[in-house]
Amino acid sequence: MAFPNESGAAQAVAAAQPMDRVRAIVESVLGVAVPGDETNIIGLGANSMELVRIINLIEDETGLRLRFEDVGFEPTIAALARNIEAAREHEAEAPVPRGDAREAEAAVPARSLPAVAGIRRNEGWPVVKLAGPTPPADAPGASVRAFGREPLALAQLAQLLETLRLPGEGQAGHAAYASAGALHPVQTYLYAKTGAVEGLQCGLYYHHPRSGELWLLAPDLVLDESLYEPLLNAPVYRSAAFALYLVSRPGAIEPSYGQRARDYCLLEAGAMAQLLRTRAPSCGIGLCAIGEFAFEPVRDWFELDDDQACLHSLVGGAVT
Ligand SMILES: Cc1cc2nc3c(=O)[nH]c(=O)nc-3n(C[C@H](O)[C@H](O)[C@H](O)COP(=O)(O)O)c2cc1C
Repeated sequence: MAFPNESGAAQAVAAAQPMDRVRAIVESVLGVAVPGDETNIIGLGANSMELVRIINLIEDETGLRLRFEDVGFEPTIAALARNIEAAREHEAEAPVPRGDAREAEAAVPARSLPAVAGIRRNEGWPVVKLAGPTPPADAPGASVRAFGREPLALAQLAQLLETLRLPGEGQAGHAAYASAGALHPVQTYLYAKTGAVEGLQCGLYYHHPRSGELWLLAPDLVLDESLYEPLLNAPVYRSAAFALYLVSRPGAIEPSYGQRARDYCLLEAGAMAQLLRTRAPSCGIGLCAIGEFAFEPVRDWFELDDDQACLHSLVGGAVT
């Protein structure tokens, strides 16, 4: 069977039905026939670069840029076609200027994107030189995406979570991160995999920041890697020993900060994540932030109020 080359794929499929158009693009990039519209193309061997090329070709033809995460979560021709329809409807409601489409995709992991100017270019302004070209030597380590197989000691995890401790009721002292009104509306949950942390049963725990305790909410719960985007993030989670989930509790902050509550929770979650990232190397732990994972299928295990949301997560394990 012959496949149109990539550059000709857009034209070759222009007159076809949406599903056929997507199929032509996918097959031109992969160079193989895809048996069915529901066939997982990652299962056929598609890698991240090929997914990005598919996204780029779809954008060239339709003017619509699909999110890498959406494609990665459901990598089938049928899902791609559905995503195009959804993007078309979304654009009809809130049009994005054609030239801005790639820049507007800031949520896609940087590894899958063309260069986007988050950092400004100098347009002729006077410059005051402060530092050399490299970040300071005491900057925290890089994100870790492959972890050691040996179990972590509970003490290592305790040392990591210590950085999120709050002083006990009535005690002096302060947290290591700022919190609007010292309300601390962001909660921390730990998921430990079976046998991954010595002395810690597999399951989902709430970390009590004042008592320095882990409360076992869901013993023996298995949080499956299918909750993570399959191409980039599932392999990271697969080798991890644990995951941390930072969850907002709007009820704790809305009475004081109203509509700013969610932004303030996000800022606080960012500060907490950065503290963990800074502390992790001295605990012998590597961490990787994971912005998106499928929280809804598992949220019942967290026993939350309806308005609580998972804002951010990190996966971690022993450094190799
Ligand atoms: C909000 C947020 C979401 C992120 N999501 C992911 C993710 O889904 N997968 C991943 O591998 N890294 C993720 N990262 C980590 C970044 O990719 C990483 O920090 C960046 O590439 C810089 O690399 P470094 O941390 O090694 O310096 C995320 C980081 C942030 C702040």
